[in-house]
Amino acid sequence: MNTKVWTVDAKGELSTNYPQITQAAMLLRDNETVAFPTETVYGLGANAKNTDAVAKIYEAKGRPSDNPLIVHIADIRQLNEFAEVDSEKANTLMERFWPGPLTIVLPCREGALSTRVTAGLDTVAVRMPDHPVALELIKRAGVPVAAPSANVSGKPSPTKAEHVVHDLDGRIAGIVDGGPTGVGVESTVVSFTRGIPVILRPGGVTKEQLETAIGPVMIDQGITDEKKVPLAPGMKYTHYAPEAPLAIVKGSREDIQRLIEQYQKDGMKVGVLTTEERAGAYQADAVRICGRRDRLETVASGLYDVLRSFDDCGLDFIFAESFPEEGVGRAVMNRLMKAAGHRVIEV
Ligand code: TXA
Ligand code: MG
Repeated sequence: MNTKVWTVDAKGELSTNYPQITQAAMLLRDNETVAFPTETVYGLGANAKNTDAVAKIYEAKGRPSDNPLIVHIADIRQLNEFAEVDSEKANTLMERFWPGPLTIVLPCREGALSTRVTAGLDTVAVRMPDHPVALELIKRAGVPVAAPSANVSGKPSPTKAEHVVHDLDGRIAGIVDGGPTGVGVESTVVSFTRGIPVILRPGGVTKEQLETAIGPVMIDQGITDEKKVPLAPGMKYTHYAPEAPLAIVKGSREDIQRLIEQYQKDGMKVGVLTTEERAGAYQADAVRICGRRDRLETVASGLYDVLRSFDDCGLDFIFAESFPEEGVGRAVMNRLMKAAGHRVIEV
């Protein structure tokens, strides 16, 4: 398959032109797959009502069929077609955080969507992305758009169109290149299906922000405790891993430098994931800077690009600094833990 790539230089509100977006929207209407930018990561979209279209997403990504997809909408009126809002708090969150990096799990109306979207569950995960290209594309497609992250399953999510090209060129119908995404980690997934609000996946909207809006929110124990099964089917899979094994180090820069030298003495090529504040402290085969530790949102924004960049270095091992688990640091540490296969070195 020849994958069409359109470039859209869109900042702020979009004008009514952008024929590229109309062409991409027509492919979605024809039940083809199109990758597009959101404020979090690139998504791989398809018509959520059509099973053939949705099947193409699973096929292109190599995604396990028990892992349901997030449905993206451009307008709150679209929601009623396929989901029920049975919680006052869910309403409050939509008003407060949409469009934005928050996904809400709601009861799904029977027969309204392809059952492959929900992987047979009676709930559906929904979000309204805060990106002018995504919103315009969904609007012009005129259908709810199912979209997981546009990476091959197991790889870090794409934060640039070139990541999508790397993973999916030739396997999908089109890519809308709208430049790098901003938030860098995926949306926060919240469920109300057990009565109380539970975070199934930490992401762009923080626990603290949610609690300011609706009071106490729990975090699914399945994502912090390795022995428990996560409530979101997708959270049980390994993910984000670079080709070389990676370990998170809870220790000082001196500790990390010592580890690097130890491993190098054994003949290994060693990389390190650090931040602007500490980068100068390391001598390694690859030193990659991921934002600033005093602004965790910059770490989130650069994380996946840095994880992917290690694959070009022919490394045998990677050490990553550890980050505080507060604010968006929770999402950063959750993704790093998965990239590390839960390997943590405490010095
Ligand atoms: O930021 C994002 O959310 C990106 C962009 C493209 O919007 N999308 C994304 O989708 O990260 P994906 O498919 O990579 O992750 C969706 C997560 C998975 O962990 C999945 O298991 C969970 O949401 N999920 C989907 N539907 C669910 C449901 N009905 N109940 C519980 N978890 C659900
Ligand atoms: Mg994903």
